[in-house]
Amino acid sequence: MKARKILTEASARLEERGVDEAGLNAEWLLADAMGVPRMRLLAEPGLPVSPEALKKFNGYLVLKEQGLPLAYILGWQDFRGLRINVDKRVLVPRPETEELAGLAADFLKTREGDLTALDYGAGSGAIGLWLAKEFPALKLTAAEKSVRAIACAKGNAVQLGLAARVKFVRAATLAPVRGRFDVIVSNPPYIPTSVIPGLAPEVLSEPHMALDGGSDGLDVARMLAEKAPSRLKPGGALIMEMGERQAPKMLAAMPPSIWKEKKTFKDLGGIERFVFAQLGA
Ligand SMILES: C[S@@+](CC[C@H](N)C(=O)[O-])C[C@H]1O[C@@H](n2cnc3c(N)ncnc32)[C@H](O)[C@@H]1O
Repeated sequence: MKARKILTEASARLEERGVDEAGLNAEWLLADAMGVPRMRLLAEPGLPVSPEALKKFNGYLVLKEQGLPLAYILGWQDFRGLRINVDKRVLVPRPETEELAGLAADFLKTREGDLTALDYGAGSGAIGLWLAKEFPALKLTAAEKSVRAIACAKGNAVQLGLAARVKFVRAATLAPVRGRFDVIVSNPPYIPTSVIPGLAPEVLSEPHMALDGGSDGLDVARMLAEKAPSRLKPGGALIMEMGERQAPKMLAAMPPSIWKEKKTFKDLGGIERFVFAQLGA
């Protein structure tokens, strides 16, 4: 059978089951099952699909229908051009988090001397590992509460050849984290607990610990805002990703006597998504 026909049928099947972006999911999954780049599949839709590839693809479709994120099925997610391995141990890095990493990079470019960064709540390690790749002299600390996530992030660090510059710390607060950093960057869990049961099945298949930010979603962010000054170098910055309407609330709770500059940044969707706060020099 030809790829074109399989894709058409699979897209219709996924759409019927309420899967978002059914066509895109089908393309990625068939390309993976066939072992060809997705772009080749699109350019040559007349490619024949072997029985083995078709069997694999049908298995993928069942997983997708069950609500598994595409990245878990493929086993990886692209993050600013880096291939980050992901599975059920970690949150799938989101596009807005790529923007967060970009903000941290912009800030690091303004710093001099030995660069150090803390990725707090590192999950798969995407943010910190991308920064380490961008800044070849950067020393990265990746702190994370979940042992399973740390194992995943370590695997990514090794695969990307960055392990020598990354220190992993198991932490539920900043207490076990040693050193001072130019930047603390974090995408903390920020979904209010009461909202979680209503989330889409795909999101609910990700680790609860990666989602649940407590009653107003700000538990971890608030802890970071309070304790970060003790872990930042003079002039260092805390940069965090937040949920909708959380960033202004967070900024208001950060005293101007401590933070020399405080501002929010919008994401590409126009949502005030990121908090940037810098200490005085
Ligand atoms: C929203 S996920 C972000 C993961 C990754 N940084 C990303 O952006 O894709 C939040 C991460 O914080 C971790 N986490 C939750 N509570 C924490 C805490 N108190 N201290 C450290 N990490 C925590 C979760 O296990 C999860 O990996």
